[in-house]
Amino acid sequence: MGVFDLTGRKALVTGGARGLGAGMAEALARAGAAVMIGDLLEEQGRRTAASIAESGATTGFVTLDVTDDDSWATAVAATISEFGGFDLLVNNAGVEISSLIVDLDPKEVRSMLDVNVLGTGLGLKHAFRAMRPDGPAGTGGAVVNVSSVAATIAFPGIAGYSATKSAVDRLTRVAAMESGKLGYGVRVNCVYPGLVATEMGLRLAQDMATLGLWPSPEAAVGDVIGLTPLGRLGEVADMADAVVFQASDAARFVTGAGLPVDGGMGT
Ligand SMILES: NC(=O)c1ccc[n+]([C@@H]2O[C@H](COP(=O)([O-])OP(=O)(O)OC[C@H]3O[C@@H](n4cnc5c(N)ncnc54)[C@H](O)[C@@H]3O)[C@@H](O)[C@H]2O)c1
Repeated sequence: MGVFDLTGRKALVTGGARGLGAGMAEALARAGAAVMIGDLLEEQGRRTAASIAESGATTGFVTLDVTDDDSWATAVAATISEFGGFDLLVNNAGVEISSLIVDLDPKEVRSMLDVNVLGTGLGLKHAFRAMRPDGPAGTGGAVVNVSSVAATIAFPGIAGYSATKSAVDRLTRVAAMESGKLGYGVRVNCVYPGLVATEMGLRLAQDMATLGLWPSPEAAVGDVIGLTPLGRLGEVADMADAVVFQASDAARFVTGAGLPVDGGMGT
């Protein structure tokens, strides 16, 4: 496996109970990392962790609300005590609520800002505190943030979501700069996934029809594929493998970077 090998690494994947996060957790475990899943969905999160462990990997689950500072402190402490360290964070938890701009609902936008922007920011805060040389884990590491193709293109019906994912992109770059300048030893990168048929992705396609932007969810998906040079939707494994790359020594001189994993849609 060489430079992609994550043996000995200790990871926390937020929103890892299902969807892309579950696939990322599985791929990190397959590459050799011990993986803690942090999510609000306790039952599903425990099930996912147990199913990954069947292959012999070390996994765990911790209840985590990424919008809550204390919850982060607890989750990071649990990761360190269970695995004996913490050197890899995947800030994957996210929410998407579609709306036309003329119908923006402050409560919905605030909830996306809370989870997608504040949640990612708090994750960086707690990862830095734990991983930097004077932290309780203390060996540096890597953070991978999950942005979206929505941060790189204009797509109707997702203005609030796009704004929050653009913020994730900027958080990534500032965090990489601070970590480098202050000697934390933590690389910070992000991925911009294209549309994947998870619960979120399928609902988004449905919303495009409900908002009257496309005649049907299938028509919306067809147009997304039409805008994609590689001619298909993304798959969970496409995103998971990109995260393994950014987490691994193969990306040892990569920080402050965003990697489109969108079949070229954002080109
Ligand atoms: N599916 C796509 O097409 C797509 C495309 C681009 C980017 N993304 C991004 O990828 C990430 C994962 O998306 P997905 O498609 O797997 O979505 P999903 O809705 O299937 O899963 C999201 C997970 O995040 C968890 N979560 C939500 N709020 C949380 C909170 N406050 N604290 C902890 N966990 C919380 C949920 O419980 C769930 O397990 C998100 O950040 C999303 O914005 C998805």
